[in-house]
Amino acid sequence: MKKQWSISHSHNYTKLKHTMIKIAIVSFLAIGIATSFSFLISSSPPKSYYHSLYISNSISDNASISHDLYMLTRRPHVAGTEANAQAAAYVLSTLVSYNIDSHIVSYDVSLTYPISRSLILTQPEPASEQLPITFDLRQEIYDGDPYADVAHEVLPTFHAYAKSGTVRGAVVYANDGRVEDYKTLKEMGVNITGTIILARYGKIYRGDIVNNAFEAGAIGAIVYTDRKDYGGGGGGGGGDEGWFPQAKWMPPSGVQVGSVYDGAGDPSTPGWPSIQGCERLSDDEVEKQGNVPLIPSLPVSAADGETIMRFVGGQVANEDWQGSKDSPTYRLGPGPGILNLTYTGKKAIETIQNVIAIIEGVEEPDRFVILGNHRDAWTFGAVDPNSGTAALLEVARRLMKLQEKGWKPRRTIVLCNWDAEEYGLIGSTEWVEDNRELLASRAVAYLNVDCAVTGAGFHASATPQLDKLLVKTTQQVGDPDNSSQTIYESWVAPDNSPTIERLGGGGSDYAAFVQHIGIASADVSFGKGYPVYHSMYDDFVWMEKFGDPMFQRHIAVASVWGLTALQLADEEFLPFDYLSYAYELQKNAKDLEDEISDKGIRLAPLFESIKRLRDAATKINQERKAIEENRVWAWKFKKDQEKVREINDRLMMAERAFTDAEGLSGRSWYKHLIYAPSKHDDYGSSYFPGIDDAIEEARSLSTPESWRSVQHQVWRVSRAVRHVSQVLAGELT
Ligand SMILES: *[C@@H]1O[C@H](CO)[C@@H](O)[C@H](O)[C@H]1NC(C)=O
Ligand SMILES: *[C@@H]1O[C@H](CO)[C@@H](O)[C@H](O)[C@H]1NC(C)=O
Ligand SMILES: *[C@@H]1O[C@H](CO)[C@@H](O)[C@H](O)[C@H]1NC(C)=O
Ligand SMILES: *[C@@H]1O[C@H](CO)[C@@H](O)[C@H](O)[C@H]1NC(C)=O
Repeated sequence: MKKQWSISHSHNYTKLKHTMIKIAIVSFLAIGIATSFSFLISSSPPKSYYHSLYISNSISDNASISHDLYMLTRRPHVAGTEANAQAAAYVLSTLVSYNIDSHIVSYDVSLTYPISRSLILTQPEPASEQLPITFDLRQEIYDGDPYADVAHEVLPTFHAYAKSGTVRGAVVYANDGRVEDYKTLKEMGVNITGTIILARYGKIYRGDIVNNAFEAGAIGAIVYTDRKDYGGGGGGGGGDEGWFPQAKWMPPSGVQVGSVYDGAGDPSTPGWPSIQGCERLSDDEVEKQGNVPLIPSLPVSAADGETIMRFVGGQVANEDWQGSKDSPTYRLGPGPGILNLTYTGKKAIETIQNVIAIIEGVEEPDRFVILGNHRDAWTFGAVDPNSGTAALLEVARRLMKLQEKGWKPRRTIVLCNWDAEEYGLIGSTEWVEDNRELLASRAVAYLNVDCAVTGAGFHASATPQLDKLLVKTTQQVGDPDNSSQTIYESWVAPDNSPTIERLGGGGSDYAAFVQHIGIASADVSFGKGYPVYHSMYDDFVWMEKFGDPMFQRHIAVASVWGLTALQLADEEFLPFDYLSYAYELQKNAKDLEDEISDKGIRLAPLFESIKRLRDAATKINQERKAIEENRVWAWKFKKDQEKVREINDRLMMAERAFTDAEGLSGRSWYKHLIYAPSKHDDYGSSYFPGIDDAIEEARSLSTPESWRSVQHQVWRVSRAVRHVSQVLAGELT
């Protein structure tokens, strides 16, 4: 990796060290005393030396990453199972072997497992010879599958937290299952009431597919993998290349398993930690919370989805609802195909394990830079999530190397390996709820990696004050797929500016940190989406063949992730820039203005508060610069540390001020007024979610009061943004 800062720095460092020793001696003579502080500076290399070392080839190790991934993915390890407890033990012992102080924090949480499933396709007269069809709902072992011996440990395909029950109804094809798809069906005169929806995976969160079906009047939902989206599009369920293990595509029997719970954390302990013996909602109370589906559902394969589709008649679906060239013509129904669907699940309180490792900061031990990734997987989890776990262990391994060479972080670094993310971000959420006040007063930033690698191409999401830092770190790390450029260069290539997404979605463990307590956060990965997602084919063979054959992308994720953490942990001033936040909010506010320009909503308060934020961000940046420029003598350095800390506290706490104690109306766990999932798609990220919800309601009610409540939500956001600028300014009014 050519552009990566190389370890030839060690040479420069020797020179630098001599210079610094000289300076130290001179100041000793001049001032008469050598404070322990200046001695400390002169006796160890500067932080930048360690940061360059961190990303150098000399200490990165793809063999170690590959080994960890292999070890973690030997067996399926769903949350709450013995296999996943063993995976936790593996992570713990690896961290301990790196001399990092580590422990397991357990929670007792409400999980669900499948007991029985049945799906039968029939048709009223005239009877068809092919019917009834009883689907076997099984994923096939592939040729040469090294995991065939443990394939029976893969859970039967199901939706976690699906409603148990038996339903029978005519099939309606609902495309992606979005709210707008039901609108289209309604416009085309398709009666949804009492039907079973067949919808395809890929556009929105599966829990919302099921819930939208329920709201449209359906009594059950089947969600299938269309080969157009996951199979390479071609004939027979695969592209011309075929499917896994010949090609990266999902085999025809592959099923995307997953949760349909639409919230964060243990559904039976909303807002409080699931510690042993704690208060818990009853099943009825959980249902009343409104984020578990009220109709049964099942996920099915491309092959089964296509079979069902052949028995759906009625109007031909729109062009953009159709499958690939050689798929049957998709029609809307209802019927004539009728599905009998039975799902029975078991609820159980199971113990889950978060592994927490701590490298204590020397100068500011009470300031935390937190890295997190989950460990639990629906099946083998080679991509999701253990590519991230292997990267986390690589970060830990390199930090051990740095410690061996004398590095000590200024702030505390916390490495977290979460459990039960797949069920609903449970391990991370319970931990955040358990440690809420300490985190809110001490956490500087949270850096998440879920699937570290699904393929090529760097992706990042962040709260906007971290944008510049991500640019800076990616400018230092080599592109794993092209050694003559940096990650930054490949990242910006399409339109010459980095695309940084925001963290409003509910897709991973950053949710509790950002959306519940307001901690600056980021999430990075290589690749985005992959065909065998949440199926039993997400195994080590797939990763080695298609995801990352040389494990160089894993190396790159560990480099960006760890280097970003090192900057946050070691830089004297927190590398936050709230000007990016002000620009981003200005852009969002302009878009909002365009969206509701004719509704008489006054956005002036919002624009005014964003202007104040911009001024406060400029001012704090200047304060920081002034301190740096005024430094002449080392002894002055020590004296201004209190001021440095005070500025850093303002930078850290500013993000908290975007949260509001009451939270969003009707979903009060979400406290952040800028970022939260959109209501009808948990994966979808909206800005100003409270305003968004209110607009949606006003559009459907069309009353003056409902538009007044949009205005109220605009005021709430304006006040939050104003609070942020006051925190940045650091002065009482
Ligand atoms: C829709 O179907 C349901 C159930 O079959 C029926 O009760 C209802 O009358 C139908 N609605 C319309 C508008 O046809
Ligand atoms: C489907 O369900 C209906 C109603 O519950 C039942 O009468 C019928 O026997 C079932 N069909 C099959 C093939 O199981
Ligand atoms: C690799 O990066 C260089 C420098 O940016 C660029 O000119 C070249 O086209 C890239 N090669 C590939 C295969 O993308
Ligand atoms: C590590 O990378 C090197 C060089 O890119 C490659 O030759 C080697 O096969 C990789 N090792 C593994 C385990 O993938």
